[in-house]
Amino acid sequence: MDAVKFEKNKLVLLDQTKLPVEVTFVECHDYRCVADAIKSMKVRGAPAIGVAAAFGLVLAGFEYRNSLKDEFLIKMKEAATQLKQTRPTAVNLFWAIDRMLKILEEKNLTVNDYLQELENEAKIIQNEDLAMNIKMGEFGQELIPHGANILTHCNAGALATAGFGTALGVIRAAFNKGKVKMIYVDETRPLLQGSRLTAFELMEDGMPVTLIADNMAAYFMQQGKIDCVIVGADRIAANGDVANKIGTYGLAVLAKYHSIPFYVAAPKSTFDLSLNSGQAIPIEERNPDEIKKIGNEWIAPKKVKVINPAFDVTPHELITAIITDAGILRPSYKENIKGMFSHGY
Ligand code: MRU
Repeated sequence: MDAVKFEKNKLVLLDQTKLPVEVTFVECHDYRCVADAIKSMKVRGAPAIGVAAAFGLVLAGFEYRNSLKDEFLIKMKEAATQLKQTRPTAVNLFWAIDRMLKILEEKNLTVNDYLQELENEAKIIQNEDLAMNIKMGEFGQELIPHGANILTHCNAGALATAGFGTALGVIRAAFNKGKVKMIYVDETRPLLQGSRLTAFELMEDGMPVTLIADNMAAYFMQQGKIDCVIVGADRIAANGDVANKIGTYGLAVLAKYHSIPFYVAAPKSTFDLSLNSGQAIPIEERNPDEIKKIGNEWIAPKKVKVINPAFDVTPHELITAIITDAGILRPSYKENIKGMFSHGY
């Protein structure tokens, strides 16, 4: 089941707000529809929104194909700006759009050339993401002991990427080696990516899954039921601090207390070397109704004050290793991240 699929002149997105009850798709014929799907989280997960935005720009190219070149370039930049304004935390969105904008900097192309190049680049971004996830799986599974009980948070699987997944990719690779006994999945309030998406994805793929409420993780760690924690990432700063779904930081603190390894799996597209530390990562603040309602039902006083940050930052000191498509990074992260990028992307 592809989260993001480009078909001739349209982008087909699996509507993740409807899972696991309904498997339905949204068909986008223009970039505004893609921007709306990213904002409303029909498509979500750092790498998947990067891929969707890249194809959003391909659709913008189709829309403006009859414009003169100068006007085409202005319109394309406006579309890129709108796509960038959808969600602030996952850097893959900006990374993918900037890659597409680089094509528009090439001076000697016609509008038709741009269209072809943009479509090629979006497909490369998508294919590269899948390849990076498979690589991360190969590297990361080495860290998983035989008979492992693994805890994960949010959804960092095929649904959040071009396929295979980041954290779930590592778990999938370890499962294929016969190493995984049980995958404990946090439900991940408030939008329930764990119960709606991760539990669904793992069950579809025939992997062992136990769903727990977010506030049960400490209990299971104390009981000795968790051998390691693996999560994905939305942005990793130059010093190794990691922004990921709200609740990740709490899990890292708990893992440290219980001496359980805490792993982050992320492709190179998730690193933001322009930020020295996680403190500079913008944290998305979402609609209070996500906490006050479940579906159409109110579960809190309608007027109660709510704060709803969608992500938190885990300091690098709490991270045992970062699994990337270029290998496994260990402390000191600042030096090792710099070393990884010294060979380019
Ligand atoms: O708000 P979401 O659902 O887009 O958040 C997703 C996450 O936090 C994932 O853990 C992260 O993007 C890693 S995905 C491979």
